[in-house]
Amino acid sequence: MPEAVDEMTKPDLAAAVPLSHRADGARLVAGYLDRAAQAVLADAVRAAIAAAPLYQPRMPRSGSPFSVRMTNCGALGWVSDEAGYRYQPEHPLTGAPWSPIPEIALAAWAELTGYPAPPEACLVNWYGPQAKMGLHQDRDEQAFDAPVLSLSLGDTALFRIGGTSRKSPTRTVRLASGDAVLIGGADRLAFHGIDRILPGTSTLLPEGGRINLTLRRVTPPGRTGDPVVNSGR
Ligand code: SIN
Ligand code: MN
Repeated sequence: MPEAVDEMTKPDLAAAVPLSHRADGARLVAGYLDRAAQAVLADAVRAAIAAAPLYQPRMPRSGSPFSVRMTNCGALGWVSDEAGYRYQPEHPLTGAPWSPIPEIALAAWAELTGYPAPPEACLVNWYGPQAKMGLHQDRDEQAFDAPVLSLSLGDTALFRIGGTSRKSPTRTVRLASGDAVLIGGADRLAFHGIDRILPGTSTLLPEGGRINLTLRRVTPPGRTGDPVVNSGR
């Protein structure tokens, strides 16, 4: 029966795996997006990139380039350059607004976070075979009550997550194409990063590599017109 098939292909949200011992901490929903949904999302990301091209962000102060390339979708995008980390409504190179957040990503936010407002920002990280991301906190938002939702496409990555101090012990998990991670609750400010990509572990992206989307609520609901956060670091 079609209903039975639907049941079988639905993600088992109850099977979300805690990534820490902390209350309401980070959780992994392995295989959240099936292959068809991954392909639709990858196409949507390509369309978003065509309108708001990937660029190489730079570290605050030093200006050293990140190894990942980035763009954003949504009303606000997270950017980094010599002036610091911040959210802004326009692409730093073209000055154009970011592309809309893909429908599938919005649906994932609604289903997985239960947050009473949509995300305002969706950071798109594009990892080539050598790219990685050092341990960091996502703390340029004002709405820390909202989790950060991560969706992964393409090659598997080694994702490291610790506690709210840089010195906290960390654990590493593999994030495969279609996996979702919620970084929220007591882990909302947990340090996390990508140690490395495992090239050739997915056939989703013909060009290889990995795409990670992180969806964020930046401003508290009802206050969307407030000045944009700039940590200035
Ligand atoms: C991030 O923390 O911005 C990205 C995490 C990931 O690539 O999985
Ligand atoms: Mn992050």
